[in-house]
Amino acid sequence: MTGRIPDAFLDELVSRSDIVDIIAARVPLKKAGREYKACCPFHNEKSPSFSVSAEKQFYHCFGCGAHGTVIGFLMQYEKMEFLDAVADLAQRAGLELPREAQAPRDSGSADLHELMQQAARFFEQNLADNPRAQAYVRRRGLEAKIGTRFGLGYAPDAWEALLKRFGTNEEERRRLFQVGLVLERSGGGGERTGGFYDRFRDRLMFPIRDSRGRVIGFGGRVIDQGEPKYMNSPETPLFHKGRELYGLYEARQARGDFKRLLIVEGYMDVVRLHQAGITYAVATLGTATTQEHLNKIFRQTHEVVFCFDGDRAGLKAAWRALENALPLARDGREIKFMFLPEGHDPDTLVADEGAEAFESRIKDALPLSEYLVQQLIAEVDLDHVDGRAKLKALAGPLFGRMPEGIYREMLADRLASRVGMPANKLKEFFTAGQPKRAGSPPELPARQRGRISVGRGNLLTQAITLVLHHPAAAGVIEDPELLGSLNKAGVSVLKELLEQAATAASASTATLLERWRDRPEHARLTQLAMLDPLVADTPAAAKELKMAVEKLLQEYGPGRRMDELLKKAQELGLNYEEKAELSSLLKSKGRP
Ligand code: UTP
Ligand code: MN
Repeated sequence: MTGRIPDAFLDELVSRSDIVDIIAARVPLKKAGREYKACCPFHNEKSPSFSVSAEKQFYHCFGCGAHGTVIGFLMQYEKMEFLDAVADLAQRAGLELPREAQAPRDSGSADLHELMQQAARFFEQNLADNPRAQAYVRRRGLEAKIGTRFGLGYAPDAWEALLKRFGTNEEERRRLFQVGLVLERSGGGGERTGGFYDRFRDRLMFPIRDSRGRVIGFGGRVIDQGEPKYMNSPETPLFHKGRELYGLYEARQARGDFKRLLIVEGYMDVVRLHQAGITYAVATLGTATTQEHLNKIFRQTHEVVFCFDGDRAGLKAAWRALENALPLARDGREIKFMFLPEGHDPDTLVADEGAEAFESRIKDALPLSEYLVQQLIAEVDLDHVDGRAKLKALAGPLFGRMPEGIYREMLADRLASRVGMPANKLKEFFTAGQPKRAGSPPELPARQRGRISVGRGNLLTQAITLVLHHPAAAGVIEDPELLGSLNKAGVSVLKELLEQAATAASASTATLLERWRDRPEHARLTQLAMLDPLVADTPAAAKELKMAVEKLLQEYGPGRRMDELLKKAQELGLNYEEKAELSSLLKSKGRP
């Protein structure tokens, strides 16, 4: 989404907003040398390990690892979505939001949102007018108040109710189709309504809202019995199933600074739990929990509890959730699992035993580590010779999915002690699932790892770090374009950073990081930004940077590659691709 807001606007926004002001308004900051310190607002602590750098326009907690730019701070502290944080800062800075930020998905989306809102109101009105639907809502144990909070409605038992109300001309009908509220007739008919009919008929309607409270889709349940039980909006310009969490907007509205989010399966579960006061319940929309969901969740809170039915399907879904959650597991985040007694879902259980009993189940939920260890032990018979081999086969890929760090070490230690194996023996498993790449950045999916080589000693990493810490030094590289010819993975990142630093009016660490927010390299760049600066000031950085780039050119430049190929041609011979490469290198060298 970031890509839709012009870089220049983000640059200006970040450089006009002083991160120290923004944070100081919420957290008492004390000056300490070049930086500001405080007790971290994101975890409990007695001595301050939270620091804010005015120079980098960046905050970082050495205790829990929280970090980010001014936009990131608002997202984390105020639980804002990216665009909301941008809008908030823009308002303070007196900047007008670009059109792209006002209508992020497409230019007509404001209209489409308005249409969805009107449809939701139409369904609500119909519920108020329909005793049968109301009776069903009551039978499900829902009170009027909760219905209003969630905007529940009723789609009339008719083929063209919505259509007649909102589809009076061709253009309107097209828009209804675009947002998934009507379907196209296959065999003509319905002249007056242009060949369309209502998608949702005789159903209890659950509007799905985005984080700003705009209706983007609907779920519709049959009244009593019928197939399919639930119908959902299709993917539309406004609605992307794998991204949205039903109830998240309402959870945020309920304020009460939620400590955790509870992920359940159904619409009804969410509404019923909220009614019972468990206002931190959300649901995925008939899909497994994706990493996109989890990223969204961890922007709101540090604790997530997955709630599953106790049956086979529930266990299977839980394991899938665990696999998806592993890459995001780390110190400071709690990921837990709870299983309900068979035959119950959260809706029926909370009705049965009340909110207090349900919440004590939430408190007893199994931490991911415990669940993982239990499941592995259950699978493996360690008294058998092949038990360890099997454990290795099972645990290796799981550990391989996790970022390196304290959390993974801790988990391995726990598993080791439970199976009576030396911990370092077990840590050999870490690499069983994937080829090891030292220091892989935590947030990147496996296939994207290792794009930037790691380690402070590495020349490329040093150069990247220098630019990040001292963007003003980038000017010393007159022609970043030269780097384009280098035969080295990750060098394009440096090239792009140099170009960004050179073109931004007043680049800072933070403005550069914002340019990368939605890209796979973002996590790694952020890590580099958090390192202590290699050198103290811009002139020193410029000198170092120039040297690093010159060395890179020497080591990986086209000349070097040509020598390599020529040598290989003499010693071992070249394959087809290498020959082609050599010939093109020779040609380009021949040019003036
Ligand atoms: P369930 O079948 O568990 O229904 O589906 P439920 O939530 O308990 O609903 P009630 O209590 O019978 O009213 C869980 C979720 O799976 C999706 C919906 O999101 C539903 O809330 N689902 C289910 C569908 O999308 N389509 C279906 O036909 C059934
Ligand atoms: Mn149910």
